[in-house]
Amino acid sequence: MKILVATEKPFAAVAVDGIRKVVEDAGFELELLEKYSAKQELLDAVATADGLIIRSDIVDNEVLDAAKQLKIVVRAGAGYDNVDLAAATAHNVVVENTPGQNSNAVAELVFGMAVMAVRNMYNGMSGTELKDKTIGIHAFGQVGRNVARIAKGFGMTVEALDPYCPDEAMSEAGVKPVHSIDELYANNRFVSIHIPATPETKGSIGYDLISSMPKGGVLINTARKEVIDEAGLARALDARPDLKYIADIRPDTADALKEAFGDRVFFTPKKMGAQTSEANINAGIAAAHQTVEFLRDGVARFQVNK
Ligand code: 3PG
Repeated sequence: MKILVATEKPFAAVAVDGIRKVVEDAGFELELLEKYSAKQELLDAVATADGLIIRSDIVDNEVLDAAKQLKIVVRAGAGYDNVDLAAATAHNVVVENTPGQNSNAVAELVFGMAVMAVRNMYNGMSGTELKDKTIGIHAFGQVGRNVARIAKGFGMTVEALDPYCPDEAMSEAGVKPVHSIDELYANNRFVSIHIPATPETKGSIGYDLISSMPKGGVLINTARKEVIDEAGLARALDARPDLKYIADIRPDTADALKEAFGDRVFFTPKKMGAQTSEANINAGIAAAHQTVEFLRDGVARFQVNK
């Protein structure tokens, strides 16, 4: 049986070596498709795959139609909005993610970008510190919890909003639970977004929330571009020259935002939150184990398309 690793944005080589070892030790064959530029390359490669390991690679109905032998897709990472779950279910294909495996990497980048923002993009002008400032964590999942841990190390006061997380879990982590999105944005000088892109969250953060942030507010998005209402963001930045928007995912209107707001906005060239060797090893090898366990033993540990 063959397991295809299809990553338009490749894992670190050391992670690929680890994945290969897991797959080959289990007696399966590994095929690697990295940095592909045309969808046809994926369609061709997936035709003979029994298992598929991906990152943010798109797995839609066309890919599933081409994948005649496919039984499982494992998204090496957290968010699975790049996989058409209904189509996978219709094709009898199990979809899993690898929760938590790359969360520290993303959380560390939040602070890399927060420091950069308050030190004026390192332009040499006097900036501000994170210590004694407030940070609101929008969703207290695996990344949000790591953000809280690191924020406390910086000496920040931490609040979080997450209807799916009990207050006690936040309190135990030294985080104040808040129960309304309005409160989260209005209370906190920094807000770090960690919600998934779903029909409910798409476009849900716009002018009202962003313009309610305290003076000198910095909105940090290492989640998904789709959760931002970009027109509302532009209006808020226009109305409030003290606000900044820093993102690890390039908005659709990136060029216009950059032109209008200069160094008050920042976007990484390519999503790089999870792009560390550690995160690649953790998520990649977990994905390899999960794929092997499913193909060999029929065990689906983190299925998301039930
Ligand atoms: C995730 O959902 O796990 C992160 O957004 C990382 O995505 P990536 O594997 O494409 O870097």
